[in-house]
Amino acid sequence: MVTPQAKATLNDIGTEELAHLEMIGSIVHQLSEDADIDEIKKHGFDSYYVDHGLGVYPSSAAGVPFTAAYLQSKGDPITDLYEDMAAEQKARSTYDYILSLTDDPDVVGPIRFLREREVVHLQRFGEALRYVQDYMDSERCFIIPKPDCMKPMPKKNKNCCKFKN
Ligand SMILES: [Fe+2]
Repeated sequence: MVTPQAKATLNDIGTEELAHLEMIGSIVHQLSEDADIDEIKKHGFDSYYVDHGLGVYPSSAAGVPFTAAYLQSKGDPITDLYEDMAAEQKARSTYDYILSLTDDPDVVGPIRFLREREVVHLQRFGEALRYVQDYMDSERCFIIPKPDCMKPMPKKNKNCCKFKN
């Protein structure tokens, strides 16, 4: 990332997202840890149970395991920040859908918190985008030291030559 502010934003949000992953894993663990086989079958958790037991395994709601393919980077700061903003909106939508599926206060509370954080992340990525756009639109002066091969040759000192005619 091209500006210190944008780097700090990415570092802060990335760190927080890892904590969110832990929160979601804890919710899944707390919801499933005491489930018996009848409950597992009744709630459609049986396929997951066959593959992972009651362990917490990072996968989508459809059972697709988390992979690096979910991450995106084009190497262009503007493109990547728009991608980050889109990811925040997709996370907010996912939390909205989760909230429409449950009224369990132990799930609703943390999910509402996470949803609010995604909105804040969207705003912070928007700020970073403005910083980066301002930086990229500004005139900059790059000073690159001239390499020796491009420096003028030293003039020969006529007095130092041993083989004068
Ligand atoms: Fe986020």
